Amino acid sequence: MSKLIIFNHPLIHHKLTIIRDEKTNTKDFRQSVNEIANLMAFEATRDLTLKKVETKTPIALATTYTLGCEVVIVPILRAGLGMVDGIQSLIPTAKVGHIGLYRNDETLEPQLYYAKFPSTLPDATVFLVDPMLATGGSAVAAIDILKKHGAKKIIYMGIVGVDQGIANLQKHHPDVDIYLAAKDERLNEKGYIVPGLGDCGDRIFGTK
Ligand code: PRP
Ligand code: URA
Repeated sequence: MSKLIIFNHPLIHHKLTIIRDEKTNTKDFRQSVNEIANLMAFEATRDLTLKKVETKTPIALATTYTLGCEVVIVPILRAGLGMVDGIQSLIPTAKVGHIGLYRNDETLEPQLYYAKFPSTLPDATVFLVDPMLATGGSAVAAIDILKKHGAKKIIYMGIVGVDQGIANLQKHHPDVDIYLAAKDERLNEKGYIVPGLGDCGDRIFGTK
């Protein structure tokens, strides 16, 4: 079974409070989502492979390390876009793929409308990012698509999840490590996370 990491870090708690607050405006919401993604990425990248290199310092030769693998960040549109800059600021060489999915309001089933990936996907460590893990349907569908396109090493990064979504993801993709900033109580009858933070895509892009 893969890893399930739920963060318990003062800075992440502080920023979660900002994005949960219904009074937070679009600019501060988007900034805090990116900052949480940045803090999470520091830990979620812990197992990336390294390449040993010799580096000449002003004093002597040193044995040093650089990233030894390709990194691809794949946001699930729209809300996942809000996490990309925070991760890419740590890994500027990362490439970015996109998966467009939206949940049908009634069935809550994910509908695919877009998929585009860099050609390095099969050899890369892929960070699938989406702030909300509710039923888990979107994450499961996104990983199905990534695997169909050859991705082998996939890490899921979300901000708020619930047991139902975590269990769904672990059942369908037991090889995928899951990183979440918080685990909430439950889903309501409309499939929203309680207490959650509302509709994340709308809050990032100011569409409501
Ligand atoms: C939200 C969210 C996830 C999905 C989670 O997207 O960003 O992608 O719902 O729900 P699930 O775990 O039940 O699948 P939404 O469909 O609202 O699209 P949007 O990001 O374009 O607003
Ligand atoms: N998608 C959201 O944006 N928020 C939720 O609470 C659940 C799914």
